[in-house]
Amino acid sequence: MQTLIPDDLRPLCRVEDIPDNDAIGFPAAPGGFTGLMAVRNGETVRVYLNSCPHIGTPLDWTPNKFLSHDKKFIICATHGAEFAVTDGECLRGPCRGDYLEAVAFELRDGMICVPADAGL
Ligand code: FES
Repeated sequence: MQTLIPDDLRPLCRVEDIPDNDAIGFPAAPGGFTGLMAVRNGETVRVYLNSCPHIGTPLDWTPNKFLSHDKKFIICATHGAEFAVTDGECLRGPCRGDYLEAVAFELRDGMICVPADAGL
C-alpha cells in the first residue's frame, strides 16, 4: 500500500535508509538554496538544515560525511566546529553556543517528511 504524502510535505527517505549512527544529506528543495541533513541513532532521527550557523556553509566535507570519527558530533567542514547530534548545539568552534537549525518532520509509514518549504 502506498502512503499518500500531502503536497505541503516533502519526503526525504525512509528511516532505515540512514545507516544507524550515521547521517545523510539531501539537496535543497526546488527553488531553494539550503540542503538538509538527517542523523540517526537507532530509531531516533533528527533533521537539521545543512548550514553552519557560523557563516552558512554546508556542513559535510564530502557528500554524506557529517560526523566525527567517533560519531559523537556533527562536524562543520569549513572551520571544524563540533555540534551535538542530540540538539545541534555548537560545543566547540567559532560559533560555540549557537545551534544548527532543527527541522521538524513527520514520520509517515517510516518515511521522513519535512515541510515542503524547509530550507527555502
Ligand atoms: S563555517 Fe562552520 S565553523 Fe565556520
